[in-house]
Amino acid sequence: MSTDDMKKRAAEAALAYVEDNTVLGVGTGSTANYFIDALARIKSRLDGVVSSSEATTQRLKAAGIPVLNLNAVGPLPLYVDGADEANARLQLIKGGGGALTREKIVAAASELFVCIADESKLVDTLGGFPLPVEVIPMARSHVGRELHKRGGQPVFRENFVTDNGNIILDVYNLHILEPAKLEAELNNIAGIVTVGLFALRPADIVLLGTKNGVQTLRC
Ligand code: 5RP
Repeated sequence: MSTDDMKKRAAEAALAYVEDNTVLGVGTGSTANYFIDALARIKSRLDGVVSSSEATTQRLKAAGIPVLNLNAVGPLPLYVDGADEANARLQLIKGGGGALTREKIVAAASELFVCIADESKLVDTLGGFPLPVEVIPMARSHVGRELHKRGGQPVFRENFVTDNGNIILDVYNLHILEPAKLEAELNNIAGIVTVGLFALRPADIVLLGTKNGVQTLRC
């Protein structure tokens, strides 16, 4: 079974968490795209979706699913999104697609965060995947030095501008033993908009697509 098949399995399983006549949040990436494809089949039962990126908005609209402004709706009952890495405590690295800021906002505004991923995303220790950090352009060098001081090797993501007009530094060589502590510390560096660590607000459930079916992880 391919990785894409496992992503699709996880995405299909997330449909079980969608309640009728509600607004839900939807993430960004290939696994989230499979979820959008699945959502399209039940769109008549939805009030709408809050999107986490311009790319997701386009795909939702193409599928005929109403896209709503987060400010126009209350707290969301559900957010469904993929991840680049997840640990057993359901803490995540996200932002491989560069949508981390809006993803973190929608996750924060949601009561239940269901993360969908293929089995390769489950790791013992976060940090094998370079940590994406969204940075205000003028702060690039300053933030780079601060990340160096903490043992990371920041690499500027070439030819990429986020939906918010910022840059991404992908930070290599971090062995993240205390994800919530590192997230809080990096949040305090001037110029960092968003850290791709989702540890202070981890997922509530991870649906892991595997060769043998879907594994449900809870804390
Ligand atoms: C985008 C993300 C994605 O959820 C993450 O990169 C996983 O992507 P994929 O589902 O394509 O493996 O955080 O910013």
